[in-house]
Amino acid sequence: MEVIISKTYEEMSRAAAEMVAEVLNTKPDAVLGMATGSTPLGLYKELVRMHQAGSLDFSQVTTFNLDEYVGLPVTHPQSYHYFMHENFFRHVNIPAQNIHIPSGTTSNYRAFCAWYEQRIEEVGGIDLQILGIGSDGHIAFNEPTSSLNSRTRLKTLAKQTIEDNSRFFDNADDVPIYAITMGVGTILESACLLLVANGENKAEAMAAMVEGPVTSMITASALQLHPEATCFIDDAAASKLKMRDYYEWIQENKPDAPRFD
Ligand code: PGA
Repeated sequence: MEVIISKTYEEMSRAAAEMVAEVLNTKPDAVLGMATGSTPLGLYKELVRMHQAGSLDFSQVTTFNLDEYVGLPVTHPQSYHYFMHENFFRHVNIPAQNIHIPSGTTSNYRAFCAWYEQRIEEVGGIDLQILGIGSDGHIAFNEPTSSLNSRTRLKTLAKQTIEDNSRFFDNADDVPIYAITMGVGTILESACLLLVANGENKAEAMAAMVEGPVTSMITASALQLHPEATCFIDDAAASKLKMRDYYEWIQENKPDAPRFD
């Protein structure tokens, strides 16, 4: 796992955006996995800036979002549909038919989840999956004890997640209890993973994810099993990493490392 520590949130977001741009410049019809939450907002802002400056084209891109709240219609301001359109899709040129977001209002969740998995397979899999991390160590809505082989499915949110996300709702009782989420197994099948995390409240989860044992108690720790996982984090989120000096040493020496391509 590569850990890239930036001084600020802005610097972290720019570094992560550069990785996305590199993928799109190499493969203009790449399949991107999208994440919601406050953390990737800076990354999306930077991608939008690059697009508006004419240096990034999304016209052949296909996307799959990680998750959605159950029960919120697409017009609900806290639905992930709404979030994605507001903060990203309406500012770039991804064809509408290429955008996939789990439905929070389907009448048949089991069939919808199977279809979602099938769509990912049909387009050849996800090239780059963007991820955030919950304070409880979750990726997408794979809460503690989710199987590390799990697939897209309905999930009951942990109380910690409901509390964390209540800041976006009028009160905690309005936060949905269920969500539909890609599984850890689904996420691990992406060719590349990019995780962003900032702030003190993510420091413990980051340390557990990068340096702790692989465990379903911290589903993000499954990234240790992936050969192409990169974490872009800020100073505060890095504050509990024991091997921080080593990660910085790697980055310092990266320009001189032998290249194999
Ligand atoms: P956040 O959410 O970016 O709003 O902190 C992260 C997550 O739960 O994945």
